[in-house]
Amino acid sequence: MRRLEDGILACIGNTPLVRLTGVIEAGFQLYAKLEGDNPGGSLKDRPALEIIRQGIKNGRINQNTVVVEATSGNMGIGLAQICRYLGLRFICVIDPKTTLSNQRLLKVYGAQIEMVTKPDTSSGDLLQARINRAREIAGTIQDSFWVNQYANSYNAQAHQRTMNEIVDALDGQLHYLFCPASSCGTLKGCSDYLRKHGLPTKICVADSPGSVIFGGKRGQRLIPGHGAGVRPALYRQGLAHRCVQITDMEAVIGCRLILAKEALLVGGSSGAALMAVRKIADEIPPGATCAMIFPDRGERYLDTIFSDEWVKENVRCSPADFRHNDDSEIVPRQVSHCNS
Ligand SMILES: Cc1ncc(COP(=O)(O)O)c(C=O)c1O
Repeated sequence: MRRLEDGILACIGNTPLVRLTGVIEAGFQLYAKLEGDNPGGSLKDRPALEIIRQGIKNGRINQNTVVVEATSGNMGIGLAQICRYLGLRFICVIDPKTTLSNQRLLKVYGAQIEMVTKPDTSSGDLLQARINRAREIAGTIQDSFWVNQYANSYNAQAHQRTMNEIVDALDGQLHYLFCPASSCGTLKGCSDYLRKHGLPTKICVADSPGSVIFGGKRGQRLIPGHGAGVRPALYRQGLAHRCVQITDMEAVIGCRLILAKEALLVGGSSGAALMAVRKIADEIPPGATCAMIFPDRGERYLDTIFSDEWVKENVRCSPADFRHNDDSEIVPRQVSHCNS
């Protein structure tokens, strides 16, 4: 088996932390951790690598093992890259909501795709149906390894390093961390790190209406990345100090603000993280330092979040939230409320 410390896998982690000055007018400092700079394009490269590393270490993964996981996006791409590098077969269980560009990425990395089309009968949820199918496939292959990111503690462990990198870059001075949550790996990993090191940083999570993670009622969500239709086993009460609900429309506005004011093209959950900061900005004391985790880049969302047609058709937006600029593109009205 090839070493995980070599080649492209050695580039996972140590992502840039950049100061943002244009997206909010406030007396506190705001940084963004650009997880889209990981080689597979998202924060999920970290847990993908950690889970495979531990699987190899404890003998559950060898050169003939088939890796199986239910994922519609970034975790699948991260795993596909690592499995390609190691020469492992990877079966990725997706659903029709998986974008075509993600399906293409999975395929070029060599993943074998399994599509689930019907929601789980008891919960009515597609995510649960995907998880059930991944478990089933893993059960039928003798030498298989089911990643099970929603319950795998190494998913969370991988993000202790994310938190460590942010804290080190800021010389330990971090008052608030804003992160989106789905499997809760990032949330739990960051929270565990802070607790272990006795740091008082408050964690604010960007969740979405329709997500059940923090006790909400299941509902339709369009933008992937933040929120989940099933509460992950990694979730624990008290991991977050605060949970801020960000609608699909707000996430779109956040993404477009970041693009307009920082020339930074990021995905929907990054937009959600920014909007969470903006929603509670009045509660953040002047002089505080805040960091946001930006999970991925915006290229994967050119046909959705950054497509005016898609936004008009799919996101219930009111004219009060968007305006047309000189090129007739929809831009968030809030842009005019920011520093210029
Ligand atoms: C774009 C994006 N944002 C946020 C998250 C949430 O991260 P976590 O699963 O660690 O809660 C994910 C997870 O897949 C993601 O792909």
